[in-house]
Amino acid sequence: MSAPFGRGVRIAGTGRAVPACVLTNKELEKIVDTSDEWIAQRTGIRARHKANDSETVFSLGRDALLKALERSGVKADELDMIIVASVSGEMICPSTAARISEAVGAGEAAVFDLAAACSGFLYGMNMADTMIRCGRAEKIAVIGVEVLTRLVDWGDRSVSIIFGDGAGAAVFVADADPKKGCQYQEMHGDGRLWRTLYHPRLDRDVPAGDEANPIRLGHLRMHGREIYKFAVTRFQEAIRDALERTGLSVGDVQHYICHQSNQRIIESAIEKLKLPAERVYINIDRYGNTSAASIPICLDELFEAGRIESGKPIILVAFGAGVTWASCVWNT
Ligand code: COA
Repeated sequence: MSAPFGRGVRIAGTGRAVPACVLTNKELEKIVDTSDEWIAQRTGIRARHKANDSETVFSLGRDALLKALERSGVKADELDMIIVASVSGEMICPSTAARISEAVGAGEAAVFDLAAACSGFLYGMNMADTMIRCGRAEKIAVIGVEVLTRLVDWGDRSVSIIFGDGAGAAVFVADADPKKGCQYQEMHGDGRLWRTLYHPRLDRDVPAGDEANPIRLGHLRMHGREIYKFAVTRFQEAIRDALERTGLSVGDVQHYICHQSNQRIIESAIEKLKLPAERVYINIDRYGNTSAASIPICLDELFEAGRIESGKPIILVAFGAGVTWASCVWNT
């Protein structure tokens, strides 16, 4: 879908918040039967942040938004909407967005949580662009935040080594130039594949056929190989479609920001599509897979380093549980 309306959207500011505690692969070796070498080779991960008892989806999301607001010059009570993308919030009711709104002083901004797993921030970013572009809102904050280390069974080495905690946020505002913001977006899902990654709380949540697996209730259950194959294909298709539909060549794009799930998945897209590797941002080595927080943390690091040039496109791509996937070509 290309940009149809008469005005554009700008990222006014970004922010991130991560737990102070860093858990390295070497430290993980003491908890679970794995090795630094295996994790680094198979995933690219060297370390991840891990929340302590007082660090929550609420507190990390709030802190990321406060930084994004400060950098954007937007006051909290000017926001029309706060979207929190997360699948690990402490409470289902009320939304984490509602509590963050109170904490930052966002008055009567619309508030809701968005559960699209690792695609959540990009779903929210695409929705924010559309709402602002068509004139239904002026200023929207989108937060991607997860504390997935609380949902993993540390004994399950195929899952516990992957995930990390953190939050990233961005404040989107209207811009007179319709060429600014999202020029192309896709959002998709395939519910037939939800069993590849899920979080069963009770026996009845466990789908037929998966009962024999050593699932511990209350912990994430992942069929990593299946997700891997799906993600490799979808990543490449999503980037290829985004380039073709916007008429961009691989060299026109200043940054490719891919969900940081496994470095090998990203590298296969680099190889297949001949992407310039130095323009494909990678920080999975320091964060692991932070799900909905992964893309906004990448964005914030790039903005902070002054590496986002105005007037040049960025391609963002994500996939996650559900399964879900999304992409966006964003003109800065
Ligand atoms: N340390 C050491 N060995 C491990 C291990 C670990 N942490 N995890 C698995 N292994 C072993 C397995 O037991 C298996 O051993 P075997 O051959 O003796 O049976 C072997 O390594 C291969 O296991 P497999 O699960 O097939 O590994 P893999 O190459 O598929 O890598 C993932 C596992 C999880 C890293 C990979 O499948 C992946 O990244 N999938 C995508 C996950 C993802 O993106 N999830 C989030 C969705 S956004």
